[in-house]
Amino acid sequence: MWWFASPRIVFGSDSLEFLETLKGKALIVTDENLVKTGVVDKITKRLKKAGVEFEIYDRVEPDPSFEIVMEGVGIARTFQPDMIIGVGGGSSLDAAKGIRAIYENPDVDPEEISPWTELEEKGVKLILIPTASGSGSEGSNAIVLTKKEENRKVASIHPAIMADYAIVDPEMVRDLPLKVAAFTGLDALSHAMDAYVSAWKNDFTDGLCIQACKLLFKYLPRACTDRSDGEAVEKVHNAATIAGLAIGSSQAGLSHSIGHSLGAVFHIPHGFACGIALPYTTKYYSKFVIEQYEELAYHLGIQEKGEKAIDSLVDMTMDLLEKINVPGNFKELLEQYGIERNAFEEKLDILVNNASLDNTVLTLVEIPSEEDFRKLFLYAYEGKNIDF
Ligand SMILES: [Fe+2]
Repeated sequence: MWWFASPRIVFGSDSLEFLETLKGKALIVTDENLVKTGVVDKITKRLKKAGVEFEIYDRVEPDPSFEIVMEGVGIARTFQPDMIIGVGGGSSLDAAKGIRAIYENPDVDPEEISPWTELEEKGVKLILIPTASGSGSEGSNAIVLTKKEENRKVASIHPAIMADYAIVDPEMVRDLPLKVAAFTGLDALSHAMDAYVSAWKNDFTDGLCIQACKLLFKYLPRACTDRSDGEAVEKVHNAATIAGLAIGSSQAGLSHSIGHSLGAVFHIPHGFACGIALPYTTKYYSKFVIEQYEELAYHLGIQEKGEKAIDSLVDMTMDLLEKINVPGNFKELLEQYGIERNAFEEKLDILVNNASLDNTVLTLVEIPSEEDFRKLFLYAYEGKNIDF
Protein backbone atom coordinates (compact mmCIF):
# COMPACT_ATOMS: atom_id res chain seq x y z
CA MET A 1 0.00 0.00 0.00
CA TRP A 2 1.31 3.44 -0.85
CA TRP A 3 -0.18 6.86 -1.41
CA PHE A 4 0.12 9.98 -3.49
CA ALA A 5 -0.90 13.29 -1.99
CA SER A 6 -1.07 16.84 -3.22
CA PRO A 7 -2.06 20.17 -1.80
CA ARG A 8 -4.64 22.16 -3.68
CA ILE A 9 -2.45 24.08 -6.08
CA VAL A 10 -3.28 27.60 -7.22
CA PHE A 11 -0.96 28.43 -10.13
CA GLY A 12 -0.29 30.97 -12.85
CA SER A 13 -0.38 34.75 -12.91
CA ASP A 14 -2.57 36.39 -10.28
CA SER A 15 -2.83 33.24 -8.19
CA LEU A 16 -1.83 35.34 -5.15
CA GLU A 17 -5.37 36.73 -5.32
CA PHE A 18 -6.45 33.50 -3.67
CA LEU A 19 -5.22 35.08 -0.42
CA GLU A 20 -8.08 37.56 -0.63
CA THR A 21 -10.55 34.72 -0.03
CA LEU A 22 -9.08 33.71 3.34
CA LYS A 23 -10.62 34.29 6.77
CA GLY A 24 -9.17 34.14 10.28
CA LYS A 25 -5.73 34.84 11.78
CA ALA A 26 -2.49 34.07 9.96
CA LEU A 27 1.08 33.60 11.13
CA ILE A 28 3.44 34.37 8.25
CA VAL A 29 6.69 32.38 8.43
CA THR A 30 9.47 33.89 6.35
CA ASP A 31 12.95 35.41 6.46
CA GLU A 32 14.09 38.92 7.24
CA ASN A 33 15.33 39.58 3.73
CA LEU A 34 11.95 38.91 2.14
CA VAL A 35 10.39 41.39 4.56
CA LYS A 36 13.05 44.04 3.82
CA THR A 37 12.81 43.66 0.06
CA GLY A 38 9.04 44.05 0.08
CA VAL A 39 8.25 40.52 -1.10
CA VAL A 40 6.16 39.81 1.99
CA ASP A 41 4.17 43.00 1.26
CA LYS A 42 2.69 41.19 -1.75
CA ILE A 43 1.15 38.78 0.73
CA THR A 44 0.18 41.19 3.50
CA LYS A 45 -1.55 43.67 1.19
CA ARG A 46 -3.87 40.86 0.05
CA LEU A 47 -4.45 39.64 3.60
CA LYS A 48 -5.36 43.19 4.66
CA LYS A 49 -7.84 43.33 1.80
CA ALA A 50 -9.40 40.11 3.10
CA GLY A 51 -9.48 41.42 6.68
CA VAL A 52 -7.10 38.68 7.88
CA GLU A 53 -5.24 39.60 11.07
CA PHE A 54 -1.61 38.53 10.77
CA GLU A 55 1.72 38.37 12.54
CA ILE A 56 5.10 37.90 10.86
CA TYR A 57 7.79 35.54 12.16
CA ASP A 58 10.80 36.45 10.03
CA ARG A 59 13.72 34.73 11.75
CA VAL A 60 14.02 31.74 9.41
CA GLU A 61 17.60 31.24 8.23
CA PRO A 62 18.95 29.10 5.39
CA ASP A 63 19.02 25.45 6.51
CA PRO A 64 16.55 26.09 9.34
CA SER A 65 17.28 24.42 12.63
CA PHE A 66 14.97 22.71 15.09
CA GLU A 67 15.40 25.76 17.35
CA ILE A 68 13.91 28.01 14.64
CA VAL A 69 10.88 25.73 14.44
CA MET A 70 10.43 25.76 18.21
CA GLU A 71 10.75 29.55 18.37
CA GLY A 72 8.04 29.84 15.69
CA VAL A 73 5.85 27.38 17.60
CA GLY A 74 6.21 29.62 20.67
CA ILE A 75 4.96 32.62 18.70
CA ALA A 76 2.07 30.57 17.31
CA ARG A 77 1.06 29.47 20.81
CA THR A 78 0.75 33.10 21.89
CA PHE A 79 -0.89 34.40 18.70
CA GLN A 80 -3.16 31.37 18.12
CA PRO A 81 -3.38 31.57 14.31
CA ASP A 82 -5.94 29.66 12.22
CA MET A 83 -3.40 29.33 9.43
CA ILE A 84 0.35 29.30 8.93
CA ILE A 85 1.53 30.93 5.70
CA GLY A 86 5.06 30.00 4.68
CA VAL A 87 6.63 32.50 2.27
CA GLY A 88 10.10 31.89 0.88
CA GLY A 89 12.46 29.30 -0.44
CA GLY A 90 12.59 25.75 0.87
CA SER A 91 13.93 26.92 4.23
CA SER A 92 10.93 29.08 5.13
CA LEU A 93 8.48 26.55 3.73
CA ASP A 94 10.06 23.69 5.69
CA ALA A 95 10.11 25.82 8.85
CA ALA A 96 6.40 26.62 8.32
CA LYS A 97 5.66 22.90 7.92
CA GLY A 98 7.49 22.11 11.15
CA ILE A 99 5.77 24.96 13.01
CA ARG A 100 2.29 23.85 11.93
CA ALA A 101 3.00 20.22 12.84
CA ILE A 102 4.32 20.99 16.34
CA TYR A 103 1.80 23.77 17.02
CA GLU A 104 -0.92 21.16 16.42
CA ASN A 105 0.99 18.36 18.19
CA PRO A 106 2.78 19.94 21.15
CA ASP A 107 3.87 16.59 22.58
CA VAL A 108 5.85 15.63 19.49
CA ASP A 109 9.58 16.28 19.34
CA PRO A 110 10.29 17.69 15.85
CA GLU A 111 13.54 15.69 15.70
CA GLU A 112 11.53 12.51 15.89
CA ILE A 113 9.17 13.16 12.99
CA SER A 114 9.13 10.08 10.78
CA PRO A 115 6.45 8.51 8.57
CA TRP A 116 5.39 6.49 11.65
CA THR A 117 5.00 9.40 14.10
CA GLU A 118 1.43 10.05 15.22
CA LEU A 119 0.73 13.55 13.97
CA GLU A 120 -2.80 14.87 14.10
CA GLU A 121 -4.19 17.52 11.80
CA LYS A 122 -6.37 19.77 13.91
CA GLY A 123 -7.57 22.22 11.31
CA VAL A 124 -4.80 24.81 11.27
CA LYS A 125 -4.35 25.47 7.56
CA LEU A 126 -0.90 25.47 6.01
CA ILE A 127 -0.47 27.67 2.94
CA LEU A 128 2.89 27.67 1.19
CA ILE A 129 4.03 30.32 -1.25
CA PRO A 130 7.41 29.63 -2.87
CA THR A 131 9.67 32.56 -3.74
CA ALA A 132 12.09 30.33 -5.64
CA SER A 133 11.55 27.59 -8.19
CA GLY A 134 13.39 24.70 -6.64
CA SER A 135 12.71 22.92 -3.40
CA GLY A 136 9.19 21.89 -4.36
CA SER A 137 8.54 21.95 -0.63
CA GLU A 138 5.15 23.53 -1.36
CA GLY A 139 4.12 20.31 -3.14
CA SER A 140 5.70 17.67 -0.96
CA ASN A 141 5.23 16.11 2.45
CA ALA A 142 8.97 16.26 3.06
CA ILE A 143 10.71 18.36 5.66
CA VAL A 144 14.44 19.02 6.00
CA LEU A 145 15.74 20.60 9.21
CA THR A 146 19.31 20.98 10.37
CA LYS A 147 20.90 19.73 13.54
CA LYS A 148 23.27 22.65 13.95
CA GLU A 149 25.68 21.13 16.45
CA GLU A 150 26.26 18.09 14.19
CA ASN A 151 26.23 20.01 10.90
CA ARG A 152 23.76 17.42 9.70
CA LYS A 153 20.48 17.72 7.86
CA VAL A 154 17.59 15.60 9.04
CA ALA A 155 15.10 14.86 6.30
CA SER A 156 11.79 13.20 6.88
CA ILE A 157 8.33 12.76 5.43
CA HIS A 158 4.86 12.56 6.90
CA PRO A 159 1.39 12.84 5.34
CA ALA A 160 0.40 15.50 7.91
CA ILE A 161 3.31 17.70 6.79
CA MET A 162 1.60 18.35 3.44
CA ALA A 163 0.33 21.88 2.86
CA ASP A 164 -3.37 22.49 2.38
CA TYR A 165 -2.69 25.02 -0.37
CA ALA A 166 0.31 25.85 -2.53
CA ILE A 167 0.26 29.18 -4.35
CA VAL A 168 2.56 28.94 -7.35
CA ASP A 169 2.56 32.47 -8.72
CA PRO A 170 5.37 33.47 -11.12
CA GLU A 171 5.15 37.03 -9.74
CA MET A 172 6.92 35.71 -6.62
CA VAL A 173 10.01 34.62 -8.57
CA ARG A 174 10.29 37.16 -11.36
CA ASP A 175 13.09 39.09 -9.62
CA LEU A 176 15.09 36.06 -8.56
CA PRO A 177 18.85 36.66 -9.02
CA LEU A 178 20.19 34.51 -11.90
CA LYS A 179 22.51 32.56 -9.62
CA VAL A 180 19.62 31.67 -7.31
CA ALA A 181 17.52 30.73 -10.34
CA ALA A 182 20.35 28.36 -11.34
CA PHE A 183 20.79 26.52 -8.07
CA THR A 184 17.10 26.30 -7.24
CA GLY A 185 16.31 25.04 -10.75
CA LEU A 186 18.98 22.37 -10.34
CA ASP A 187 17.38 21.30 -7.10
CA ALA A 188 14.10 20.78 -8.96
CA LEU A 189 15.87 18.78 -11.67
CA SER A 190 17.57 16.61 -9.04
CA HIS A 191 14.16 15.87 -7.51
CA ALA A 192 12.66 14.84 -10.82
CA MET A 193 15.66 12.71 -11.87
CA ASP A 194 16.08 11.09 -8.44
CA ALA A 195 12.37 10.32 -8.05
CA TYR A 196 12.20 8.68 -11.48
CA VAL A 197 14.72 6.02 -10.42
CA SER A 198 13.73 5.65 -6.78
CA ALA A 199 12.81 2.28 -5.32
CA TRP A 200 9.50 3.97 -4.44
CA LYS A 201 8.84 5.21 -7.97
CA ASN A 202 5.27 4.59 -9.05
CA ASP A 203 2.70 5.18 -11.78
CA PHE A 204 1.44 8.34 -10.11
CA THR A 205 4.80 10.10 -10.13
CA ASP A 206 6.54 8.85 -13.29
CA GLY A 207 4.68 11.27 -15.54
CA LEU A 208 5.34 14.15 -13.16
CA CYS A 209 9.09 13.40 -13.20
CA ILE A 210 9.19 13.23 -16.99
CA GLN A 211 7.27 16.47 -17.40
CA ALA A 212 9.38 18.30 -14.82
CA CYS A 213 12.60 17.12 -16.56
CA LYS A 214 11.27 18.17 -19.96
CA LEU A 215 10.33 21.64 -18.71
CA LEU A 216 13.61 22.14 -16.87
CA PHE A 217 15.91 21.02 -19.67
CA LYS A 218 14.00 23.25 -22.06
CA TYR A 219 13.30 26.37 -20.03
CA LEU A 220 15.96 26.56 -17.29
CA PRO A 221 18.67 28.02 -19.56
CA ARG A 222 16.27 30.81 -20.60
CA ALA A 223 15.06 31.41 -17.05
CA CYS A 224 18.70 31.66 -15.93
CA THR A 225 19.52 34.22 -18.62
CA ASP A 226 16.63 36.67 -18.58
CA ARG A 227 14.08 36.88 -15.79
CA SER A 228 11.80 38.99 -17.96
CA ASP A 229 11.23 35.86 -20.08
CA GLY A 230 7.80 35.30 -18.57
CA GLU A 231 7.15 31.99 -20.29
CA ALA A 232 10.41 30.40 -19.13
CA VAL A 233 10.06 31.76 -15.59
CA GLU A 234 6.53 30.40 -15.25
CA LYS A 235 7.39 27.00 -16.76
CA VAL A 236 10.35 26.53 -14.41
CA HIS A 237 8.23 27.64 -11.46
CA ASN A 238 5.58 25.05 -12.34
CA ALA A 239 8.25 22.39 -12.92
CA ALA A 240 9.63 22.87 -9.40
CA THR A 241 6.23 22.21 -7.82
CA ILE A 242 5.60 19.26 -10.15
CA ALA A 243 8.94 17.74 -9.10
CA GLY A 244 7.98 18.43 -5.47
CA LEU A 245 4.79 16.40 -5.93
CA ALA A 246 6.91 13.56 -7.30
CA ILE A 247 9.34 13.40 -4.38
CA GLY A 248 6.44 13.53 -1.95
CA SER A 249 5.52 10.02 -3.03
CA SER A 250 8.69 8.62 -4.63
CA GLN A 251 11.41 10.45 -2.68
CA ALA A 252 14.69 12.03 -3.65
CA GLY A 253 17.67 9.74 -4.14
CA LEU A 254 21.39 9.52 -4.62
CA SER A 255 22.11 13.08 -5.83
CA HIS A 256 20.50 14.17 -2.56
CA SER A 257 22.48 11.75 -0.35
CA ILE A 258 25.60 13.42 -1.75
CA GLY A 259 24.06 16.89 -1.90
CA HIS A 260 22.74 16.94 1.67
CA SER A 261 26.14 15.86 2.93
CA LEU A 262 28.21 18.35 0.91
CA GLY A 263 25.76 21.20 1.55
CA ALA A 264 25.65 20.71 5.30
CA VAL A 265 29.44 20.45 5.71
CA PHE A 266 30.43 23.36 3.46
CA HIS A 267 27.28 25.52 3.59
CA ILE A 268 26.95 25.79 -0.16
CA PRO A 269 23.54 26.04 -1.84
CA HIS A 270 21.72 22.73 -1.80
CA GLY A 271 20.79 22.91 -5.50
CA PHE A 272 24.42 23.36 -6.59
CA ALA A 273 25.49 20.36 -4.50
CA CYS A 274 22.73 18.08 -5.86
CA GLY A 275 22.78 19.42 -9.42
CA ILE A 276 26.53 18.99 -9.84
CA ALA A 277 26.27 15.50 -8.32
CA LEU A 278 23.65 14.50 -10.90
CA PRO A 279 25.83 13.55 -13.88
CA TYR A 280 27.96 11.36 -11.59
CA THR A 281 25.11 9.74 -9.68
CA THR A 282 23.23 9.13 -12.94
CA LYS A 283 26.13 7.23 -14.48
CA TYR A 284 26.94 5.31 -11.28
CA TYR A 285 23.34 4.43 -10.40
CA SER A 286 22.47 3.43 -13.96
CA LYS A 287 24.09 0.05 -13.31
CA PHE A 288 21.13 -0.72 -11.05
CA VAL A 289 18.30 0.95 -12.99
CA ILE A 290 19.40 1.19 -16.59
CA GLU A 291 15.89 0.66 -18.01
CA GLN A 292 14.47 3.58 -16.05
CA TYR A 293 17.21 5.93 -17.20
CA GLU A 294 16.83 4.67 -20.76
CA GLU A 295 13.11 5.43 -20.59
CA LEU A 296 13.73 8.90 -19.14
CA ALA A 297 16.34 9.59 -21.82
CA TYR A 298 13.83 8.53 -24.48
CA HIS A 299 11.25 11.01 -23.18
CA LEU A 300 13.90 13.73 -23.30
CA GLY A 301 14.47 13.07 -26.99
CA ILE A 302 17.52 10.78 -26.76
CA GLN A 303 17.35 8.11 -29.44
CA GLU A 304 20.16 5.79 -28.32
CA LYS A 305 19.69 2.70 -26.19
CA GLY A 306 21.60 1.09 -23.31
CA GLU A 307 24.86 2.62 -22.08
CA LYS A 308 24.84 5.14 -24.94
CA ALA A 309 21.49 6.52 -23.77
CA ILE A 310 22.90 6.95 -20.26
CA ASP A 311 26.00 8.69 -21.60
CA SER A 312 23.82 11.05 -23.63
CA LEU A 313 21.70 11.79 -20.57
CA VAL A 314 24.86 12.54 -18.60
CA ASP A 315 26.12 14.80 -21.44
CA MET A 316 22.75 16.54 -21.58
CA THR A 317 22.95 17.26 -17.84
CA MET A 318 26.54 18.52 -18.12
CA ASP A 319 25.45 20.68 -21.02
CA LEU A 320 22.63 22.16 -18.96
CA LEU A 321 25.08 23.01 -16.16
CA GLU A 322 27.26 24.82 -18.66
CA LYS A 323 24.34 26.75 -20.15
CA ILE A 324 23.38 28.07 -16.73
CA ASN A 325 26.99 28.89 -15.78
CA VAL A 326 27.43 26.21 -13.16
CA PRO A 327 30.68 24.22 -12.95
CA GLY A 328 30.52 20.52 -13.78
CA ASN A 329 32.56 19.44 -10.74
CA PHE A 330 32.76 20.07 -7.00
CA LYS A 331 36.33 21.39 -7.16
CA GLU A 332 35.38 24.50 -9.10
CA LEU A 333 32.19 24.96 -7.13
CA LEU A 334 33.95 24.76 -3.76
CA GLU A 335 36.69 27.12 -4.95
CA GLN A 336 34.01 29.67 -5.75
CA TYR A 337 33.16 29.54 -2.06
CA GLY A 338 36.82 29.77 -0.99
CA ILE A 339 37.07 26.08 -0.07
CA GLU A 340 40.32 24.53 -1.25
CA ARG A 341 41.31 20.93 -1.90
CA ASN A 342 42.84 20.38 1.56
CA ALA A 343 39.56 21.37 3.26
CA PHE A 344 37.65 18.97 1.00
CA GLU A 345 40.08 16.13 1.69
CA GLU A 346 40.03 16.82 5.41
CA LYS A 347 36.25 16.46 5.46
CA LEU A 348 36.02 13.50 3.10
CA ASP A 349 35.42 10.92 5.85
CA ILE A 350 32.60 13.01 7.29
CA LEU A 351 31.13 13.58 3.83
CA VAL A 352 31.11 9.84 3.13
CA ASN A 353 29.70 9.01 6.53
CA ASN A 354 26.90 11.60 6.36
CA ALA A 355 25.96 10.58 2.82
CA SER A 356 25.78 6.90 3.88
CA LEU A 357 23.55 7.85 6.82
CA ASP A 358 21.31 10.23 4.86
CA ASN A 359 17.64 9.24 4.91
CA THR A 360 17.55 9.40 1.11
CA VAL A 361 19.58 6.16 0.85
CA LEU A 362 16.55 4.29 2.14
CA THR A 363 14.78 4.67 -1.19
CA LEU A 364 17.72 3.60 -3.36
CA VAL A 365 17.39 0.21 -5.01
CA GLU A 366 20.98 -0.43 -3.91
CA ILE A 367 22.81 1.53 -1.24
CA PRO A 368 26.37 2.34 -2.35
CA SER A 369 29.13 0.98 -0.15
CA GLU A 370 31.21 3.51 1.79
CA GLU A 371 33.96 2.88 -0.75
CA ASP A 372 31.63 3.76 -3.63
CA PHE A 373 30.43 6.89 -1.83
CA ARG A 374 34.06 7.94 -1.35
CA LYS A 375 34.73 7.39 -5.05
CA LEU A 376 31.58 9.29 -6.02
CA PHE A 377 32.74 12.31 -4.00
CA LEU A 378 36.26 12.10 -5.44
CA TYR A 379 35.16 11.66 -9.05
CA ALA A 380 32.60 14.47 -8.77
CA TYR A 381 35.30 16.64 -7.20
CA GLU A 382 37.75 16.04 -10.03
CA GLY A 383 35.13 15.96 -12.78
CA LYS A 384 36.20 12.42 -13.72
CA ASN A 385 33.98 10.13 -15.76
CA ILE A 386 32.46 7.41 -13.62
CA ASP A 387 34.07 4.06 -14.45
CA PHE A 388 33.05 1.90 -11.51
FE1 LIG B 1 16.40 19.01 -2.97
